[in-house]
Amino acid sequence: MSVRLIDVTKVFEDPSRPGGGVVAVDGVNLDVAEGELVTFLGPSGCGKTTTLRIVSGFESPTAGDVMIGGARVNDEPPNKRDTSMVFQSYAIFPHMSVEQNVSFGLELKGRPKAVVREETARIMDVMGLTDMAKRRPDQLSGGQQQRVALARAIVNKPKVLLFDEPLSNLDAKLRDQMRLEIRRIQQTFGITSIYVTHDQVEAMTVSDRIVVMNKGRVMQVGAPFEVYSRPADRFVADFIGRVNFFDGRAVGSAEPFRVDLGGRIVEVGSRVRGIVEGGEAVVAVRPESLRLRPAAEGGSSFASGRVTKAVYLGSVIEYEIDAGFERPVLAVSHDPVDAGFFSVGDAVALDFPARAAHALAPEPRGTGDE
Ligand SMILES: Nc1ncnc2c1ncn2[C@@H]1O[C@H](COP(=O)(O)OP(=O)(O)O)[C@@H](O)[C@H]1O
Ligand SMILES: [Mg+2]
Repeated sequence: MSVRLIDVTKVFEDPSRPGGGVVAVDGVNLDVAEGELVTFLGPSGCGKTTTLRIVSGFESPTAGDVMIGGARVNDEPPNKRDTSMVFQSYAIFPHMSVEQNVSFGLELKGRPKAVVREETARIMDVMGLTDMAKRRPDQLSGGQQQRVALARAIVNKPKVLLFDEPLSNLDAKLRDQMRLEIRRIQQTFGITSIYVTHDQVEAMTVSDRIVVMNKGRVMQVGAPFEVYSRPADRFVADFIGRVNFFDGRAVGSAEPFRVDLGGRIVEVGSRVRGIVEGGEAVVAVRPESLRLRPAAEGGSSFASGRVTKAVYLGSVIEYEIDAGFERPVLAVSHDPVDAGFFSVGDAVALDFPARAAHALAPEPRGTGDE
């Protein structure tokens, strides 16, 4: 079933300030295709949970429409919408076995005993729960409990699965594992899903597409590769991963697109619309795209400076370089053995391939981070 949000807005009234409520969701438009998993990603308080609750029917929009499978559901109560929610608190019954937890929803629906048995067995098999069918939740690990919660959510074959930060209570290693598990299950059953998280790695791992939100608004919608390598603006670039911004001016508008960074002309592989010829442009380059070499080697480079910080993390080294820009330049070197180590104080030359550079329009006045 597809899900569509049309101009959805939610204002929470504040009784102490008449007319001055909180705009939690601000004119959100979105299409989620049948079988697709879309993630809402953004900082705490940006309206992810509220939007999800509007889809489930636990919250009603102040304005706008919610469509599920082509039908307007604004006036349908949650239990008529055929959605199922998975939370970070597991919401499984402590006094029931794994099997009873999974079969409960089917029994509630009055399905024939044989069907309940068969469906429960199938879901437990897919979820790897068969061996622990008779155990009770307090005999399970956090990850196993979350798997039971997921099995409970999908056993009724909901049209839409809604996840609200489902892995926040798990430790890092289990979280990595469960992300892949959730993705596998969602694809196995082809259930249209909306997944809320503030964790960009989690969003990259599970999503077909990511909706980046800020202050109740949608900033960008795109596949993980698009939002990471072609961010729409500084907020998206900065929120998803780490990034260097270099301020400059667009040189012409022909391809290859070029930007003048204080006298040094660089080519960039992609750019957003709205950069005017001769106008301001911001070049965004990810730390892993920056190449370092000893300044003593000579040759031309985009910039040069001195290493002010070098953090060895085993598989990578993270550097900060003072290259005369407003902020230190961040660079990440993979395979340090091959690339060579630099130490604090070393003079280095910096470069990046044009295809790894992405030009952004300057922030419109008054809408930057206050
Ligand atoms: N029931 C409520 N009453 C008043 N304000 C709320 C309510 N629920 C959420 N908000 C406010 O709406 C904004 C968005 O909240 P939420 O959707 O929970 O964000 P997120 O899930 O992205 O952290 C926040 O400013 C929050 O304080
Ligand atoms: Mg939330």
